[in-house]
Formats: sequence, C-alpha cells, structure tokens
Amino acid sequence: MTTYTFPKDFFWGTASSGPQTEGRFDGDGKGDNIWDYWFSKEPERFFNQVGPDKTSYNYLRYKEDVELMTKTGHNSFRTSIQWSRLIPDGVGEVNEKAVAFYNDYIDELIAHGITPFINLYHFDMPMALQEKGGWLNRETVDAYVRYAKICFDLFGDRVKYWFTHNEPIVPVEGGYLYDFHYPNEKNLKHAIQVVFNEALASSLAIKAYHESQDGQIGIILNLTPSYPRDEKNAEDVKAARIADAFFNRSFLDPAIKGEYPEDLIAIVKDLDMIPQHTPEDLKTIKDNTIDLLGINYYQPRRIKAKENPADIDPNCPMPEDYFDYYDMPNKKMNPYRGWEIYEKGIYDILINVRDNYGNIPCYISENGMGVEGEERYINANGQIKDDYRIDFIKDHLRYLHQAIQEGANCLGYHLWTCMDNWSWTNAYKNRYGLIAVDLDKEGKRTIKKSGYFFKTLAEQNGFSD
Ligand code: BG6
Repeated sequence: MTTYTFPKDFFWGTASSGPQTEGRFDGDGKGDNIWDYWFSKEPERFFNQVGPDKTSYNYLRYKEDVELMTKTGHNSFRTSIQWSRLIPDGVGEVNEKAVAFYNDYIDELIAHGITPFINLYHFDMPMALQEKGGWLNRETVDAYVRYAKICFDLFGDRVKYWFTHNEPIVPVEGGYLYDFHYPNEKNLKHAIQVVFNEALASSLAIKAYHESQDGQIGIILNLTPSYPRDEKNAEDVKAARIADAFFNRSFLDPAIKGEYPEDLIAIVKDLDMIPQHTPEDLKTIKDNTIDLLGINYYQPRRIKAKENPADIDPNCPMPEDYFDYYDMPNKKMNPYRGWEIYEKGIYDILINVRDNYGNIPCYISENGMGVEGEERYINANGQIKDDYRIDFIKDHLRYLHQAIQEGANCLGYHLWTCMDNWSWTNAYKNRYGLIAVDLDKEGKRTIKKSGYFFKTLAEQNGFSD
C-alpha cells in the first residue's frame, strides 16, 4: 500500500465564482455585467437557454453552503466578488446590500474555520464599462484599481488571500479570438491590448494591496502545458514553444518575472501589434509581481508544426498561424467537456514553476471533471455515486504529491467546484461539484459520494491505495 501524505496546513477546498453561483434577486441592487447582457440578447447561445439569473442560489443559501463546506472537508474556499454587484455601473456608488452580503459570507466562512480566498475578476465585466470598450479601454484599468482598493478596504481585515484575476487569458480567447465570451470579436490586435491591460490592472492592484494591507495577493492562471507531437522534431518543438508563449507565458512571465518573454515580444513586434503602453506601465509591471500563484489545470495542449501555411488568412492573423493542434491517438478524454485528461500535466507544471519561476509559492486553484447526466448515477439513497470524480482527483493528487516530494512549493489543492454551478455558455450541462444542485427544486443541495471522499481526504491530509 502507498500512502500519500501532504504537507502540514495544506489547503484543501474548492473554488467557485460569484457570477456562477450567486444568482440575481429582486432588490439585491446588482448591475448588469456582460453575461446578463449577452444572455438577454442571444439566449440560444447558452445550453438549454439557461442564463446567469438564478445560477446556484448562493446569494440566498450561502449559510447552508458554508455548513456543507464543513461537511465536505474544506479548510479553505475561493470565490469571487462580482464587480457589478459591489459597484453596479463599475465606477460609481457602492451597493450597500452587496457589502452586507460579502461581509456576512466572509464572516460565516471564518466562523466555520474556512479560510476565504477572494478573487476580484472572474470573466465578469460590468456592462456599463463594456459599452465603453471593456478591457480595451485604459479607463477600465483605472476603474478596476478603484474597485480593488474598495474591496481591500472593506474586506481586507479578514481576507488575507487575494487574487487579481482568474484565468485572464480566457476573456481574451473568448471575447477577442474564438467567440465564446461577449463581445465575440475575432481581432488579434485587440486581444493583445486586452492581455496587456489586464496585466497592468493586476500589477496596479498588487501595488495598492502591498501599500495598505498585510496579506498575500496573487493571480490565478490556467496553465496548459504545451507538448510537441514529437520531441525530436525541432519544428514541432518550436511550434509548441510558441503556443506556450501565447497561452501560458503571456501572463505567467509578467506576473512572476515582471516582464514579457522575448519570443512573444518578437512575434508581436513582427505583427506590428505592440499594445499601447507607457514606459511607466512597464515599470509598474516590473515592480509589482505576485506573492502567490494559483494554478488551474484541466488539460494539456498537443501541438505540431504548421502543416499547411495556406490556412493563414493575412487579413485575420491568429495564434494558430504559428502552429497546428495535434490530435494525439488514444488520448484519455473527458467526453462531456471534450478535454483531454492527462494527469502528469500537473506535475510538469509544478516542476516548471520550481525550475523556471523561482519556485514561487503556489497552489492548485482549480482541477476538476465536468460530467453530463450525473442523475444516472443516483443510488437508492438519492446520492450521486461519482466514483469517476474520486478517481480523477486521486490520479492528479499522486502526481501533485510527487512534485512536492521533488521540491515543488505547492501549498494546496482546490477542486472545481463545491456546488454544481453555472458554466457560462455550457450553463448546467456538465456538473463539477462535490455537491449536487437540483435546479427544479430551487437549488436543493445533496452531497455526492465525492464530497464524503473529500472530507476524509482533508481530515487525513492525504490518502492511501
Ligand atoms: C475554468 C473557470 O476555466 O474552468 C471556471 O475558471 C469554469 O469558471 C471551469 O467554470 C470549468 O470550465 P467550463 O468551461 O466547463 O465551465
């Protein structure tokens, strides 16, 4: 038998976000964000036309949810403040009902021995700011920094782990390259400006935090290790390296090293797409790097050299002009989400952070498996027997354990997610939670088998097999 024991005070818990869990209720004072707006215009883009209005009723049920977190082994939990709840138009008055809600939610977590991790931005641009260009507009950076400072002032006495963004590359991909977030553009120049403005906003928020608060602040990045089809083929290796620059190092390097990778700068220069910036902005990024890195890991990227340069449209440059995706035979898949499952990726990421990023303190801030139709696994007691999720967690934790044994500075593991929640355009198609949410019964909660497993895992600070 092998026992996997994790370091003392390891963070065990889950992650979620405000827009995916809270819902919106009469009189709560929340303003529109891009999701509220986009759903009102194109409900057919969302699975079963389920929108962001009710999500998982957490705004009404947060006390019950915190109780359930204790029953599923949480010593820590991440959610996000919704910018459009706290400041409905993004720049003006603070909504006192939001302050009361977040205060009480945070207090409830702490009273139950659960350390709150609070993220400031999870894909949820206030609509009033999007109308003026969203992240493309420099004024949004200023509005975000003001919002961040308000959050630190209101909640920083109790919240000691803050994050400036969750997966900042995703609004770039979704909103400016591949059409799965509003504003649904396909424009690499805009995408690059958004990358820069998000990083600048992050650094300015970090600066403000360090000037006034005493906890830690970081960023959460979805790292997708890029594997070449053939490691002995120099063209495949080069293509994988470029994909890594676009999708990983574009945020990882400024966040930790305070500067952009040279290969990425060379490509962007060549495209004549250097984003608008000042020398002072670069100094801000250089001087204000993160304390803690959150790593979301779901899937790798398999890459091969570009096979058909004729695919390239000179009028519409895209990252994929530099590489092709490689459909590796016999890969293990999560068929519901269409993502490859490659457990060793978690180890490779942590070793990369150990060796190339100063072994900065980090934790796994998301990892998880969305499954469609989980009702078919309900047993006679009404519990979902999600053994596949338990196996998924253990399979990743073995590699995480190995990385720690080899010196990786990984402080915890958060699963995505606690309660089943609303997954953007996929809505409630795939369920990720330790706890089932019944939408036909106003969000009734039932702990799944994996929830009980997770409690034992956290109590024992590991597992054996
Ligand atoms: C991460 C996000 O990308 O993965 C979450 O931080 C998201 O917001 C989760 O819900 C699962 O992905 P998806 O696309 O299935 O919702």
